Amino acid sequence: MERTTHTLLVGDQATEFATQLGFKEEDLHSDKSRDLYKQWKQKNCQPNYWKNVVPDPKQSCGPYKPKPFPPNRNKQELSEDSYKGIGSDNHDTIGMVVVDSKGNVAGGTSTNGLNHKIPGRVGDSPIAGAGSYVDNDVGGAAATGDGDVMMRFLPSFHAVMMMKSGASPTIAAGDAIKSIIRFYPDFVGAVLAVNIEGAHGAACHGIEKFPYSIRSTDYSDVTVLEVPCM
Ligand code: GLY
Repeated sequence: MERTTHTLLVGDQATEFATQLGFKEEDLHSDKSRDLYKQWKQKNCQPNYWKNVVPDPKQSCGPYKPKPFPPNRNKQELSEDSYKGIGSDNHDTIGMVVVDSKGNVAGGTSTNGLNHKIPGRVGDSPIAGAGSYVDNDVGGAAATGDGDVMMRFLPSFHAVMMMKSGASPTIAAGDAIKSIIRFYPDFVGAVLAVNIEGAHGAACHGIEKFPYSIRSTDYSDVTVLEVPCM
């Protein structure tokens, strides 16, 4: 079987490649986004997602400085890190895993589309293993949910490593979610996993059910499946 060697392009290299493909850099601001920003500034920069900073982010627009980190944070405090405003109605992270006809695996994740994020926020999407992860000999996984929490657990890497040890995609995705909710019981999110045989599964938490779409040789068209959440 012919296998491809993959190269990950980031930063300037990615921009250069996109330019070669014909994409032009453009200003994505619109009248609507400028107006949203103005209103947000007038409301004392609310909502904002700063935590453990001074001055109080609920009262002031900053600039902020880190508060000394509390040494023994309990589960309740950790759980409060999770942004409770995230839900299936107000954001969408799109994760995708593809196994091609030669058996090569690729994965990718969009950002979540939330507005008013902290400048420079990274989140899970661009972190290999957090947003998505693939291993050509095993399969791939992609995650969705609160990226500030997920980037601490590498749930996609977790799911792929579970599959490597013989777990089914459903068990692997479930175990990845369990490792998060042990510390963040209010976590809202999901993990989707696919192995190189094309078996797939998902697990989720904090919502009732999680829909995912699949297109394979077994299905003539895209099929939407749904899993009940933990
Ligand atoms: N899961 C995407 C994000 O939080 O940015």
